[in-house]
Amino acid sequence: MPTAGSDSTSETEIGVYWKEEELIHPPTRFIAQANMADPNIFERFKEENFPECFKEYADLLSWDRYWSTTLDTSNPPFWKWFVGGKLNASYNCVDRHLRKYKNKAAIIWIPEQEDEPDQVLTYQELHNRVNEFALVLRDFAGLKKGDRVTFHLPMIPALPISMLAAARLGIIHNQVFGGFSAKACAERIQDSESHVLVTCDGYCRNGQLLDKKMDADLTVEEAKKLGSDVKKVLVWRRYPDKYLSKSPMVAGRDYFIDDLLKEFRGKRAEPVSMDAEDPLFLMYSSGSTGRPKGCQHRTGGYLAYVAGTSKYVQDIHPEDVYWCFADIGWITGHSYIVYGPLSLAATTVMYEGVPLFPDAGRPWRIAERLGVDIFHTAPTTIRMMRKAGSNEPKKYNYHFKCMTTVGEPIEPEVWRWYYYVVGKGEAIITDTWWLTESGGFLCSTLPALQPMKPGSAGTGMPGIYPVIYDDGGKEIRRGQGRAGNICIRNPWPGIMQTIWGDPERFVRQYYSKYCMNPNSTNWKDWPWMAGDGAVQAEDGYYRILGRIDDVIKVAGHRLGTKELENASLTTPEISEAAAIALTDELRGHVPVIYASLKPGIIPSKEIAEKVVANIAKELGPIAKPRAVYLVPDLPKTRSGKIMRRVLASISNSKDYGDITTLANPDIVETIRKMVQGDKAVNK
Ligand code: WTA
Repeated sequence: MPTAGSDSTSETEIGVYWKEEELIHPPTRFIAQANMADPNIFERFKEENFPECFKEYADLLSWDRYWSTTLDTSNPPFWKWFVGGKLNASYNCVDRHLRKYKNKAAIIWIPEQEDEPDQVLTYQELHNRVNEFALVLRDFAGLKKGDRVTFHLPMIPALPISMLAAARLGIIHNQVFGGFSAKACAERIQDSESHVLVTCDGYCRNGQLLDKKMDADLTVEEAKKLGSDVKKVLVWRRYPDKYLSKSPMVAGRDYFIDDLLKEFRGKRAEPVSMDAEDPLFLMYSSGSTGRPKGCQHRTGGYLAYVAGTSKYVQDIHPEDVYWCFADIGWITGHSYIVYGPLSLAATTVMYEGVPLFPDAGRPWRIAERLGVDIFHTAPTTIRMMRKAGSNEPKKYNYHFKCMTTVGEPIEPEVWRWYYYVVGKGEAIITDTWWLTESGGFLCSTLPALQPMKPGSAGTGMPGIYPVIYDDGGKEIRRGQGRAGNICIRNPWPGIMQTIWGDPERFVRQYYSKYCMNPNSTNWKDWPWMAGDGAVQAEDGYYRILGRIDDVIKVAGHRLGTKELENASLTTPEISEAAAIALTDELRGHVPVIYASLKPGIIPSKEIAEKVVANIAKELGPIAKPRAVYLVPDLPKTRSGKIMRRVLASISNSKDYGDITTLANPDIVETIRKMVQGDKAVNK
């Protein structure tokens, strides 16, 4: 199996050999209650019926004004969906459920400390809090439609409340993953041009109370260095009236939100009716350059797409207790903790902490106590839970009807543990392949209609027409056992609109490689390149192999090799750096850094430690490398390109292939000895 990440750059045509896995059929009990058990759906969503088929998703929403054009392709690849339509995302996720469900739990929040009580927000209570905070954003912070606001929040109820409050007024929210550093947050503030930062005082993780407000101070400082002025810092307190942080509040800049809310108690902020094409949020994501890109998502198409996929793939009914064990700071959380489930009036569970705190039974105690029946998480979490407590699920009396895996390829062995042990053989699994850019699922099975295959994501979703191309643009057909670049031939409502402030990069990154005619306004000439290697089996199921560009997925988190390298280079002794992905049993991949030093500098443990510390400071602790090798030189092509692939092969104890064309082939053996000792794996 090829590994993801930088070791396979431009090598998409990998022969793939693996055993075909068995097909597992959904239980009758699941089919009997499924939201989508009508096989005609594939007929309705076939190409002849595109794009009008997506009306079926859009009709799940409440529109203030119905759209006139389903898809406008006049300015490719800047597609417009549901043109002329008007709606509000916050209204769709909250207000419209009040009549039927006002006393039903919308969000159940589980603090990490097990003895601390849960917080249950009914739809009525969520409505109250969203309205009140919207008034803080509007009347206190002075924000209005089209402005950006940055959130740097962990998994606390304030996060979905803040998102829905912004969406209510058409303020574009930009949530930065809570585990990212102050510096990373500052860059996203600068790029999105936001002047208000919403944060909190502290939160619990792994049994520790972490100080979040400290980060905010640093963020403001770093943003200033980048020329961005953060005018207001709004601080949610975990316990009103009790301040958990050591950082002093800066007069005229920092405000406690619980104080500000007093003025707005019980007051309402009318939802602003938005054009379907007005942006809803930005989500920054790593790509192949050092600069993360702001994926800009639209209101109408995005919400329609997450509502449709939540309903038909996750099988969410209003009676379900749905738990997506992911972080809202990632696209998975935006689409499948907040917008998708709430648009369907589900009860969505949020957990503050880590999977194994205080022990391996924790997730299953939560599931049992709340009666969770839909469970959604990432392979890295599944592997962790399997390793720490493979018999643990048996001890608890919970029953799932469906489960999802997302974010990385899942090994068939791990899939089977998920199916037989976590799901007790009763729950279907959907393996959903998609990206920050896609807004929602691209490939998956429709669980009542298609059997599961361990390790495969299934077919294209209804209305999604994937294709695999080789590097030369030739289609690799199903059943050939060859991998290539997976693309989606058509636009879909959930696709991002553009890269915030950089439309050229949007075109270059996703369309330049396979666009058939840049002057064409026919969508068929504009396949969208996902950046993943994939292979399609004879039966049409796609198996996703991982990134083929310079992106590493670490425990499901997406990091750019360039970002890691730039962070390494902030260590003054370092001259050049290369980041590669090392395969890891639990986290999928972890970064490893190879770096050369400036002339005259002697390698030392201190320098290597400095590199680790700088990466944590620049990007956040999740990006910390497993190892830093200070090497005499990096292997390069004659044109000076660093051969990350060779370094990745060394770290992963694989054959590094032909190196005779390198400018400095001898360095490879020197590095290999440093890393592996004298065992000769390449021979
Ligand atoms: C990977 C996460 C295999 C893939 C939603 C993609 C997957 C990247 C799967 C996007 C899956 C996501 N099987 N690989 N089911 N789902 N990926 O933007 O490499 O954080 O390109 O979005 O995750 O990561 P992102």
